[in-house]
Amino acid sequence: MNKETETVLNYHERTKHRLARYAKGPESLDWDDQPDPFRRFSGCDIVALPTPGAELDVLFADLDKPELIPAKPLNRVNTGLLLELAFGLSAWKEFGPSRWALRCNPSSGNLHPTEAYLINTDNDLFDAGVYHYVSHDHHLEKRCAVTGEITGTGILIGLTSVHWREAWKYGERAYRYCQHDIGHALGALRYAAAILGWSVELLAEWPDDDIAALLGINRTDDFHKHEYESPDIICRINTHADNSSSLNPAALLESSRTGAWFGKADSLRAYHLYKWPIIDEVSKAAAKPYTEEPHWQPILEPAIKSSCRQTATGIIRQRRSAQHFDGKMPPLPLTDFYRMLAAVSPTSQLPFDMWRWAPKIHLFIFVHRVEGLDPGLYALPRHHDDLEKLQAATLADFEWQKVEILDDNIFTAIPLYHLYSGNFRQLAKTLSCHQPIASDSGFSLAMVAEFSEELDAKPWIYRRLFWECGLIGQVLYLEAEAIGIRSTGIGCYFDNSVHEILGIKDHKFQSLYHFTVGKPLEDKRMQTLPAYAHLLREDAINS
Ligand SMILES: Cc1cc2nc3c(=O)[nH]c(=O)nc-3n(C[C@H](O)[C@H](O)[C@H](O)COP(=O)(O)O)c2cc1C
Repeated sequence: MNKETETVLNYHERTKHRLARYAKGPESLDWDDQPDPFRRFSGCDIVALPTPGAELDVLFADLDKPELIPAKPLNRVNTGLLLELAFGLSAWKEFGPSRWALRCNPSSGNLHPTEAYLINTDNDLFDAGVYHYVSHDHHLEKRCAVTGEITGTGILIGLTSVHWREAWKYGERAYRYCQHDIGHALGALRYAAAILGWSVELLAEWPDDDIAALLGINRTDDFHKHEYESPDIICRINTHADNSSSLNPAALLESSRTGAWFGKADSLRAYHLYKWPIIDEVSKAAAKPYTEEPHWQPILEPAIKSSCRQTATGIIRQRRSAQHFDGKMPPLPLTDFYRMLAAVSPTSQLPFDMWRWAPKIHLFIFVHRVEGLDPGLYALPRHHDDLEKLQAATLADFEWQKVEILDDNIFTAIPLYHLYSGNFRQLAKTLSCHQPIASDSGFSLAMVAEFSEELDAKPWIYRRLFWECGLIGQVLYLEAEAIGIRSTGIGCYFDNSVHEILGIKDHKFQSLYHFTVGKPLEDKRMQTLPAYAHLLREDAINS
């Protein structure tokens, strides 16, 4: 095992929550000192985007067949919509004196470590260059005016993470959450692009150093100490325009290297009371070099179609995490449950159409309240090749009985296995850091990764496994909204207790994320306010 992988595994072990003690985090939090969730660069020209909130008539169910959605032209309106639906604000919440923004992409603790950049190579859209997206103001900050010939490749999106912003609350475990958030953001981007008839290509070959150079986040003088950004991924948006040509990464990099750079990142303001050097260590160890990457493509169609007649823009903007579930909910209809399983299965359906690797994440599901299914523990291996490995790695007592719903071939196409009957509510709650959201729902689940096989030689795979979890989570979030219920990501769980329940004894498999889905209970004391009323007010004042 190489030294970097050792560092990554050490981080992973050390940041496990255990029943006896949580992973290391701050001993106290000063909420008035919370880092600014909105990064801005002072000294940049601003590119305004059209007023957010536009509705398109694409239905959520239409996203089952993204290839049938007509491609919109690449212009300012549609670029703005892409950014809004992927990373923009979805609402403000108010409770007593507190007020906070929610976004289309969720984030652990709502701290939003993910930053989004747009690289424009099309001078007809606006000046070619590298831009930072400010979700609060729904505008772009021009960080770099590029020089040279890079036209014809449309737009790219770059994602980065400010690890410290997340670590402020979660300490050492925060690096994991930053990776989950990238997965969610990628999912959000894929859905947003699909509504416009566009697709997303992950430029996964790119080394982190080149991503940092292209986005200008390696310009250390432009950032406050500790508040720097770490590179994650570049995505090419394919707008299916006739004139789009293939990307020349070297030319793109050269044009940003020789371009004119503007602005400096404002301070995120909070006092840096605690330091978490292990996050820098793991981040360095899991940095990605240039790699050859496959184009693995699932060919299966989703086994069950969505019947949601709401617009996709509506579903995206209404997506929320449930904070409480109705523990007395009527059982979730079996068709809805199976649709969600179909949606998270790797098919040619979005967002997995952009995922270039065979699935590494499998689901162990605590079924609490689902029509026609015995409460108990179930498994959904997301790749048939891993079935035997999963069986060998988990408790010998598990039944592994394929759930056959007679008279319905569609359902039997989904590889759901019954492992154990019983009431797992209390256990699910205990495993998820005693959170009732894991027990009061219709079902909750653990995402179990095929962990060590590739990691031994490629430490950066650690991040990608969390990204895949986030991607699955984003599907669950949107699918739950589409059937009129709600879900919540759960980053807090007792790692090894989960492994013990499943019988997992080593690093071949590890649980990396939890999720829960059910009927939400609204907190009526909390007010929901429109996402961008503040922009309309500013426009009115300025006119
Ligand atoms: C990676 C991740 C982990 C999360 N973990 C928890 C959790 O353990 N418990 C919880 O109540 N909510 C959890 N959440 C939900 C976030 O708190 C929520 O996304 C955030 O407050 C923003 O709210 P929204 O999802 O309604 O936009 C998690 C979300 C993400 C993306």
